[in-house]
Amino acid sequence: MPSRPDVRVRTAIAADAGELLTVQLAAFVSEAQQYGDPLILPLRDDVGAVRSAVADPACTVLVAEVVVGGPDGRAGRLLGSARLHRGDVGQVGRVVVAPDAQGLGVGSLLLGALHRVAARDGALATELFTGADSARNIAFYARHGYVATHLIADDRGVRLQVMRRAADAFGSPPHAGPPADVG
Ligand SMILES: CC(C)(COP(=O)(O)OP(=O)(O)OC[C@H]1O[C@@H](n2cnc3c(N)ncnc32)[C@H](O)[C@@H]1OP(=O)(O)O)[C@@H](O)C(=O)NCCC(=O)NCCS
Repeated sequence: MPSRPDVRVRTAIAADAGELLTVQLAAFVSEAQQYGDPLILPLRDDVGAVRSAVADPACTVLVAEVVVGGPDGRAGRLLGSARLHRGDVGQVGRVVVAPDAQGLGVGSLLLGALHRVAARDGALATELFTGADSARNIAFYARHGYVATHLIADDRGVRLQVMRRAADAFGSPPHAGPPADVG
């Protein structure tokens, strides 16, 4: 995929669950390989878990979808997803982009759209975690205003870096692309 196709960000619906899970599993394989653990949390989700998140009124699940088909993408294809458990400190999770579409700005579009949802909710901050050894992910989130706070471990002992973004950092960075159709 040489360039990013036209993408729109929209709220996920139940019918997206299968394709969304497929993208999630494909995206997280590289993380699982890095940590030598095929059972990292996002790889344990099933389609029911995705449907539950989509149906949860306290959770906003967004997907990035190709708008116009062409050499760079099939119209309607889901390239990525991200979710926000809303609250005073919104919890961002499952930020995923299909392996062949990574590095094209899709993750930035999704994160920017989630930040707009959090801002609209009046959240004080958003928080997330990523693998403590996942330097590219940590750099990605730092570029979007996140600051490393502390380390935790998952239930299998994988070290995770918690990162937080204050509400006054809300607003999309210049490279985040055009506004999404949400928020
Ligand atoms: C991390 C991820 C969501 C970023 O989305 P993206 O669309 O690839 O990112 P963007 O194109 O908006 O931004 C590019 C930046 O993302 C970061 N990045 C992290 N992993 C990357 C990857 N596999 N390919 C390209 N960029 C990646 C880098 O900082 C990169 O900047 P650089 O090119 O200067 O190194 C995506 O690469 C992904 O799905 N990775 C696998 C799943 C994962 O680890 N998710 C995060 C869990 S907390």
